[in-house]
Amino acid sequence: MNRLIRASLRMTAAAIAIAVFGLTGFAQDRGQEGCRGCMRMGQSQGPQDMQTIHALFNEHKKIRRTVKNIENGVETLTESDDQAVQAMIVEHALAMQKRLENKQPIRQWDPLFAELFKHAEKITMQISKTQRGVRVVETSSDAYVVKLMQSHAQGVSEFVAEGMSSMHKSHELPGSKADEKSFLGKGDGLTTCPVTGAPVDKSIKAEILGRTVYFCCQACRDAAQKNPELYLKP
Ligand code: HEM
Repeated sequence: MNRLIRASLRMTAAAIAIAVFGLTGFAQDRGQEGCRGCMRMGQSQGPQDMQTIHALFNEHKKIRRTVKNIENGVETLTESDDQAVQAMIVEHALAMQKRLENKQPIRQWDPLFAELFKHAEKITMQISKTQRGVRVVETSSDAYVVKLMQSHAQGVSEFVAEGMSSMHKSHELPGSKADEKSFLGKGDGLTTCPVTGAPVDKSIKAEILGRTVYFCCQACRDAAQKNPELYLKP
């Protein structure tokens, strides 16, 4: 009897060891940084999509990105000099376009992503390959969805700038209190400076968000060019 109990204990220990080593090996094979928060992302995310997203985070320093808000949407350019990273950028953008088309949400714990998928049918996403990545134009005839897409594009830029540390930060909806707090604009950019609200000097101007904006001084112009979303409404 005792021998039977000892044998079954040994088998249980072996099973636990296989499970632990098996899982560790799996994570290492995929070359990912640890990511406990992905557990809460839900099961709708295919392993391939997550693998690519993790790899993009790991390689974020090799990615360049510019975002331009246009009247009815957003235009982004995301590129890398590394061919493997270029391929991942293309793969990810195409995979996310499919998810929008098929309404297969991702990152549903994040208010902005959840809202985006709720309005997926109002989004038109055009992806063109460039020499080093992708140019994406996203448009909608719904003004609220335009704001969602523009906020999302900024969120992606944050992912690119900060890497894995931004993976589990959630994003507020445009127009929510948290979002409004971050808007610092004081003037209209025509007669009053968007940064300080002071009268503008018409010789100090810049093309931002597709229009000519005037400032009271050059420091304000630099600030708005660096972070247009803080001072100018789309
Ligand atoms: C370094 C990390 C990432 C890069 C370089 C990247 C890149 C891109 C690009 C180029 C697009 C096309 C639209 C645009 O340019 O704004 C896009 C769209 C999208 N990405 Fe990512 N992404 C990253 C991280 C993530 C993460 C962490 C998620 C979610 C878990 C995600 C989900 C999406 C979704 C849902 C879309 C389509 C929705 C839309 O564009 O409106 N991405 N991403």
